[in-house]
Amino acid sequence: MKLSHKLLKFTEPLTYQRGWRRAQRSIFRVPLRPLLASIDQERLREIQQRYANSQAGYAKYANVEPWLRLNRERVQDLKLHRSMPKRVLDLGCGGGFFLFILKKLGHSVLGLDVGHIALFTELLALFGVPRVLWKISAFEPLPDFGHEFDWITAFSVNFNLYHPSKRRWGSAEWDFFLRDLQRHLAPGGKVFFGLNPLFDGDYYTPELRDFFLSRGATVERERISFKNGLRL
Ligand SMILES: C[S@@+](CC[C@H](N)C(=O)[O-])C[C@H]1O[C@@H](n2cnc3c(N)ncnc32)[C@H](O)[C@@H]1O
Repeated sequence: MKLSHKLLKFTEPLTYQRGWRRAQRSIFRVPLRPLLASIDQERLREIQQRYANSQAGYAKYANVEPWLRLNRERVQDLKLHRSMPKRVLDLGCGGGFFLFILKKLGHSVLGLDVGHIALFTELLALFGVPRVLWKISAFEPLPDFGHEFDWITAFSVNFNLYHPSKRRWGSAEWDFFLRDLQRHLAPGGKVFFGLNPLFDGDYYTPELRDFFLSRGATVERERISFKNGLRL
C-alpha cells in the first residue's frame, strides 16, 4: 500500500470523529454570552490589568474568553451540557474554566491542583469554583473527598511527569493511579484525560496506548476516554 493511502487510512477516522464533534457542537450549543455576563467584570478587569504586562507564560489565562471557548468545547464533547447534574472532579484544574461552565450548567464541581499559580487562584475565586490543594504524585493515593464523583477529568495533563527528569509515567504508575481513581468514582462513573504531547510530539508510547485500551479506554490521539468506566 502506498504511504499516502496508509496515512489516509489512519487519519480518516480521526477526521471523521473531529468533524462529528464539530457538528454536534454546532447543533447542541452552549451560548458564551450568558457565561461571560455572569462574571464580575470589574474584578476581572482588575485582574487583567495586573497581568497585562506580565511575561509569565500563564498570564495568557487572564484573557478569559478564548479559554472559555476552548472549555465550552470540552464540556460539549463530553456531552455534559445535555446531562442531568453530575458530580465532577477536575484534576490539574488550573484557573477552573471547565468547572466554571459546568457549575453554570448545574453540575456540582471540585477542582484539584497544586495551586502554585496565583492567577489560577484568583480566577477560581472569580468563578466561584472550589479547589482542593494537592500534588498528584506517582504511587500516592489522592485524598479523601468526602463523596464519589460521576466524572473525573484532567485536561492538558502534566501531573504524569517526574521532576526534574521530565520522565513520563509508564503503565505501572498509570495502573496505580487508575485503581485509586476507581475508589473515587460512583457506580457508572466515567473518566477522561486530555494528554499533553511528549517531547517528540507523540502522546504516549505504543505500550501505554495498549495499556489504556486494556483498561477500557477509547484512545483518539490525546483523548483517553473511559466512557464505560475503568476496566481494572
Ligand atoms: C497546563 S495547566 C492546565 C490547566 C487546565 N486543566 C486547563 O486545561 O486549562 C496544568 C495544570 O496542572 C497542574 N498540575 C501540574 N502538575 C500537577 C500535579 N502533580 N498535581 C496536581 N496538579 C498539577 C498545574 O498546577 C496547572 O494548573
